[in-house]
Amino acid sequence: MTTCSAPGKVYLFGEHAVVYGEPAVPCAVERRARVSVEPREDDRVRVDAADLSLDGFTVTWGGSIDDRPDVDVPAPLLAAAMEYIEAAVDQARAAAAAPDAGFDITVESDIPLGAGLGSSAAVVVAGIDAATRALGTELPPEEVARRAYEAEYEVQDGQASRADTYCSAMGGAVRVEGDDTRTIDAPALPFVVGYDGGAGDTGELVAGVRALREEHAFAADTVETVGDLTREGERLLAEADPDAPPSEALLADLGELMDFNHGLLAALGVSSRSLDAMVWAAREAGAHGAKLTGAGGGGCTVALDPTDETEHALGYTAECEQSFRAELATEGVRVED
Ligand code: MEV
Repeated sequence: MTTCSAPGKVYLFGEHAVVYGEPAVPCAVERRARVSVEPREDDRVRVDAADLSLDGFTVTWGGSIDDRPDVDVPAPLLAAAMEYIEAAVDQARAAAAAPDAGFDITVESDIPLGAGLGSSAAVVVAGIDAATRALGTELPPEEVARRAYEAEYEVQDGQASRADTYCSAMGGAVRVEGDDTRTIDAPALPFVVGYDGGAGDTGELVAGVRALREEHAFAADTVETVGDLTREGERLLAEADPDAPPSEALLADLGELMDFNHGLLAALGVSSRSLDAMVWAAREAGAHGAKLTGAGGGGCTVALDPTDETEHALGYTAECEQSFRAELATEGVRVED
């Protein structure tokens, strides 16, 4: 049995705009998906997935991908998760030159599905690494990231950037602009996540922004402005000491850019009442800044607050199902004992 894990992520800046070649800065956080893989004698694939949600319901199902049984809770999300696992299996077979390899796969995750914390990227990254290793092939994390991107690209009908998968494979803070992907230095930022218990449809949300951008020059300008503020945020990070706790001044400046970024994402139509409510609850609690993270539509917000105030205030916010502090995950994909 080979087990690998990969972290989820929050976007400090730049989701959606990254799809159109603007830079984005996602940061890996210590919420992980773990994928265990055992090669089979035959060419079939069996998947058990449990705890694929933060609120603790457990769904376990098995069977070959070819004759996957129906699942009723919550079917669209689990069906999507299965598609990502299938795509990861294909990538692992190709990487290990073993087109007929079969696997027993177990997925466990403490990253809520479809909620903006990179659950699918983490599952795909950990899955490709575990399955290739189980077949005796060790890929460098950059190659795992590349193959995971190919898998996401396929599942999302060509509407995916490299940001989620690269961040999950490499860990830490990363910068993605088109094909240019790199890790960057960043201090340990005090992320606080709010989760509304819901999820957004990434494909639909990306398509919505694409349509707006094609229809209105001001929407295209909005996307470019997200790129501008992301570059400004990168400059702030580059000037900071990555080994020291972030200064109040740095948090204030980054927070201001996060607030701006949220406003632009809302203008592009990807926020929601609950995401806005959590953003405002965080700001009123004294967070330095707050924004939605990921595709939006529902799911998670991220705020910067070194104190307990934001986490506490979100706990009393009707729209927020869970709030938690998220530490920067310095390690990306890794083998687990
Ligand atoms: C989704 O986590 C982030 C988006 O920018 C899509 C992508 O980058 O592939 C909305």
